Amino acid sequence: MKNKERRPGAKPFPGAKAKAGGDKRQGSAKPASAKRPDERQNHAPRRQPDLAKAKPQPQAAETGSEPARVLTVRSGDRPAERVPLILESTGAGDFHLIDSGEGQKLEQYGPYRIVRPEAQALWPRSLPAHVWEKADAVFTGDTDEDGMGRWRFPREALGETWPLALLGVDFHGRFTAFRHVGVFPEQIAHWTWMKERIEEAKRPLKVLNLFGYTGVASLVAAAAGAEVTHVDASKKAIGWARENQSLSRLDKAPIRWICEDAMKFILREERRGHRYDIILTDPPKFGRGPNGEVWQLFDHLPLMLDVCRELLAPKAVGLVLTAYSIRASFYSIHELMRETMRGKGGLVEAGELVIREAGLDGRTPGRALSTSLFSRWVPK
Ligand SMILES: C[S@@+](CC[C@H](N)C(=O)[O-])C[C@H]1O[C@@H](n2cnc3c(N)ncnc32)[C@H](O)[C@@H]1O
Repeated sequence: MKNKERRPGAKPFPGAKAKAGGDKRQGSAKPASAKRPDERQNHAPRRQPDLAKAKPQPQAAETGSEPARVLTVRSGDRPAERVPLILESTGAGDFHLIDSGEGQKLEQYGPYRIVRPEAQALWPRSLPAHVWEKADAVFTGDTDEDGMGRWRFPREALGETWPLALLGVDFHGRFTAFRHVGVFPEQIAHWTWMKERIEEAKRPLKVLNLFGYTGVASLVAAAAGAEVTHVDASKKAIGWARENQSLSRLDKAPIRWICEDAMKFILREERRGHRYDIILTDPPKFGRGPNGEVWQLFDHLPLMLDVCRELLAPKAVGLVLTAYSIRASFYSIHELMRETMRGKGGLVEAGELVIREAGLDGRTPGRALSTSLFSRWVPK
């Protein structure tokens, strides 16, 4: 039975070649609309009720000289679901959340205590002011997730980087202009899951890490025995990731560092027929590829997941999506994931990644701070 076709109402991705064939395991591709992409955007996606009876149609529409890859309409049952799933980290290695409140959080990163804006921390602080005042670094500036600002070092001037370790890998903490510190520690929950899957597999798994930033996830995967493909648009971030690879003594590990627009990369991988066992995708709300390619989560995420599904190997063990600072419920990405994975079986889990306060000693559980939404497809 045919189980998919191009979804005519979806935003195409210009410059991408249309996928000629379908999933050979489950049937052939069905047609795309012959309309221009800008016309197609005005229509809501429609599901074709009976794909088994669908007649072959012309290929996907062309944008100028280049064909566009448009969304696939999937049929078959949606995967089972488990919602809500709250994945909680209390910290690991050199990291824990000490306290939060009054729009800020106080975190321990190795030797340093760091204060950063945290819009979700509406509650009062648990620890007294003198504890917060002893912080080594304070970020002041835009409270937006990606807002610009500056670091202040109340005790002594600190260098740009410092050593950290998590889940067995070494890397640099880093005071960046956008308040980030070189790692998103709430991802520990995903990374621990991934590490376990890689270690229990009886073969080297292939991991694709999209929007991979400083490479901590890629290093955790490589250290566990995976072959890793890491994609990020920022040359600087790739440079930091390579530095982290050396710090982790993983120079010989099979990691491909790719500085490219994530969407362009996966479209090419799809055309080449390359496949992965685990795909992590952690797209920002807005981003740019190295050649100015625009990434808009609300416009491009459905197509990104659609292509990621095609990139999953027959014995794939998971597709993990995380989304930060978007105005959406986890149900938005959960239902998108379930639609994308129609006919594939398995289970879609979704919810939030939260970090629990652990106090000054790192062992005193406090309140839970939500950091992001996630959705994860697993085969069983
Ligand atoms: C939020 S960070 C990802 C964090 C990382 N996954 C982690 O948990 O440590 C977003 C990353 O996406 C990259 N990025 C933004 N737009 C991109 C694009 N169009 N293609 C590829 N990477 C992009 C940025 O350079 C940045 O490193």
